Amino acid sequence: MSWWQDEFLNIKNNKLYLEEKSAEEIVRKYGTPVYIYSRKKILNNLQNIQEAFSSASPELEVRIAYAMKANPHPAILKTLLKKGCWIDAVSPAEVKTALKAGFPEYKIMFTGTSISLKDFERVLKHPEVTINLDAYEQIEILAEARKKMRRKKPVRVSVRWNPGLGRGFSSKTVTAGERSSDGTPIKFGVEEASVIEAFKKLKKLGFEPVGLHQHLGSGWTEEDFPVAIKAVDRMIKKARELKKAGFNLEFLDFGGGFGPKYRAEQRLFPLAEYAAYILDKVESSKLDLKAITVEPGKYLVANAGVLLMKVEYVKKSYRNLFACVNAGTYNTVPRPAIYEEAYHEIVNASCVNGRQKTKITVAGHLCETGDVFGVERLMPMPRRGHIMAVLMAGAYCHSMASNFNLRPIPKEIIL
Ligand code: LLP
Repeated sequence: MSWWQDEFLNIKNNKLYLEEKSAEEIVRKYGTPVYIYSRKKILNNLQNIQEAFSSASPELEVRIAYAMKANPHPAILKTLLKKGCWIDAVSPAEVKTALKAGFPEYKIMFTGTSISLKDFERVLKHPEVTINLDAYEQIEILAEARKKMRRKKPVRVSVRWNPGLGRGFSSKTVTAGERSSDGTPIKFGVEEASVIEAFKKLKKLGFEPVGLHQHLGSGWTEEDFPVAIKAVDRMIKKARELKKAGFNLEFLDFGGGFGPKYRAEQRLFPLAEYAAYILDKVESSKLDLKAITVEPGKYLVANAGVLLMKVEYVKKSYRNLFACVNAGTYNTVPRPAIYEEAYHEIVNASCVNGRQKTKITVAGHLCETGDVFGVERLMPMPRRGHIMAVLMAGAYCHSMASNFNLRPIPKEIIL
């Protein structure tokens, strides 16, 4: 049994099956390359999160706000809406897309960085959307936008603070702390020393500060647990200080970050323990919160999607063997080309297992050396016409794909 087999992906007669259909059958209908998503898998992922937080006291609402940047497909949004999810949106266009999918305004929080006056104006059109400020310097711009819009209704705001600690699978996805692991200064959030001042200013300007938010980074595994819980402690401490200063918050938002399993040897982030830790700390804090929020993106959708592509030919050059496929990383699954640490399992869907395995590099059709889905992967020798599946393609793949080389972004099919 392969580590990735589950209710979505299976092997029958040495062929890859996606729920009830073989990958080969699916591409006969839809062509290649194509993204295939499983609603069933998304729902099961959601259920895992709900179960992790199920011991919350009835007075504390647990909001699961889908970080739609991971995959804003309307059918995915609708599926999550039906199950009670909220939305983490990071651009006015995401807010609009969430509204179009049917989310009520009050279930949307807008968290933007480098936000323009125009962006704020667009979001302020929706009176019940909560605006989560990423910078002290945004407050005046928001006030200006409110004035320009002649907005009468109160504006619900929260503050994204930077608790001084961050974790992510790549230096590019660490979103808190002073600098990332490669030295890049971190642009997100209000620094610790300015948080209370930000709340005071918001109040003075007539805004309605309702929450405190943090997001440490993306792609946590087991080893990120100690930092994740340390950041929970910092958040509670900061909320206590705010309470002392007269700010009784409605919610604390702990952000997203908990990763699904991308490779066999990866040890999963202990979600249940994390949830229990948050609940325990929140409930013993006497903060009288109405709600807590988590903002999962990749946990909900990454393992619910695959990219299917076709092998055009197998090429030998020097001692290298390539499966040349009819897709490009940047147009489909850009993560391995962008992040050194990103890994996507690749399965030969037409011949999953075999006694004889070959080391083969799966190369895309773009004019860049980095356009490889996987380097020297061990698998049964592919042939022309074989179908290859890139796993974990449900999150940050279609949403980050480009038209580089004027290649189209493939269509998405939901099972
Ligand atoms: N909340 C906020 C404010 C965020 O910025 C993000 C992700 C999330 C929640 C969801 O994080 P998740 O649960 O998906 O880890 N392109 C990268 C991921 C960047 C995530 C940025 N922010 C990747 O492909 O791995």
